[in-house]
Amino acid sequence: MTPPDTLKIGLFGLGTVGQGFIRALALARNAHAEISRICVRNVAKPRRVAVNPNILTDNPDDIINDPGINLIVEVIDDPEASYRIVTRALRRGIPVVSGNKAMIARHLPELIRLQREADTALLYDASSCGSIPIIRNLEEYYDNDLLLEVKGILNGSSNYILSRVFDLGAPYAEALAEAQRLGFAEADPSFDILGFDSLFKLVIITVHALGVYVSPDDVLCQGIADISDFDISYARDKRWKIKLVAQVVKVSDTEFTLFVMPEFVSPQKYIYSVDNEYNGVVIRGECYDRQFMFGKGAGALPTASSILSDVMARRHLYRYEYKKMSYIGRPAYTRQVELLIYLRYSDPAVLEAFTFTSISERYTSATASYVIGRITIESIIAAGDTLRRHDVFVCNIPQFFLDRD
Ligand code: HSE
Repeated sequence: MTPPDTLKIGLFGLGTVGQGFIRALALARNAHAEISRICVRNVAKPRRVAVNPNILTDNPDDIINDPGINLIVEVIDDPEASYRIVTRALRRGIPVVSGNKAMIARHLPELIRLQREADTALLYDASSCGSIPIIRNLEEYYDNDLLLEVKGILNGSSNYILSRVFDLGAPYAEALAEAQRLGFAEADPSFDILGFDSLFKLVIITVHALGVYVSPDDVLCQGIADISDFDISYARDKRWKIKLVAQVVKVSDTEFTLFVMPEFVSPQKYIYSVDNEYNGVVIRGECYDRQFMFGKGAGALPTASSILSDVMARRHLYRYEYKKMSYIGRPAYTRQVELLIYLRYSDPAVLEAFTFTSISERYTSATASYVIGRITIESIIAAGDTLRRHDVFVCNIPQFFLDRD
């Protein structure tokens, strides 16, 4: 296949990222790409960027059926509409660049199959960690058996909120409203706060890190919604911060686990100084110990820069090969892994839902109580109802599962 002289782009979505993409493309003098058509829900809506009104449409067919369009960029919020557009485009052999992590994390096995059947490509570095090129790096550079762990802050909004609350003592609700105003948060910010946005990114990262797809429904995911002043003071007294951390980690030579959970972070850790809407990812492996990637994880232009990078890559016919998915001896996913957690609660009855293997510390007071103990990921998942319904905050106390490099 020869690369096209000019990319004629059909753009779906003109929200924060779509408008950012138009601005980023205008700065890219070597892109050889132009936006031929833009599909939006409401053509009459006023926008902050100037666009030719003649190329706006509200009919997806105007892009998908246009033989002149040779690349689709899809940056809409709605995962179901995104799924319909992306699968239709791939079936027609049109390559797609997408940032929709919820859609990709839920449908990746099918999306991989469609790319192969139609001999086309779906690129999605913008889906994970905004401007940080994590997917292409995991796919291309870390193509070996040495990876031990990919771990970090994958969500800009929750990190922004935690930074404001921790560093400036800002009220939680005010920090959340600011994250929304700045265009970091999802349309429904509970995705950021409850950890699902990090989870979707982690599922995608796991495919490119270890070649294994795990459904988001099977993964432990705890967010920061229940964090209290007590938890913040507890961490501050120890000179730690609390960060929302996602990790995929080998726990033995044959097994790995993955989960999203708030974590106590000491000043020695790279992610300690990852604040505001920045993301930071630590990649740990045998032979090279740790590497650290840091950058803006949310916002119009940082995310658009990643979309643009995928667009440029497509000019050279780049595609993910998913090589690791066919490797022999891929590690197996396990939830039978013990974590050391801090569990703060107000009603002592909630403790009955948690099957701790051992408890090393108990604290009880009139305002808040906590236990610190070892518990399997499986047992925390089993206590999911209690976690959702009661005032309980769980926080991981990090430990090495496979201590070697
Ligand atoms: N809501 C997401 C975040 C946007 O805050 O990280 C970037 O994926």
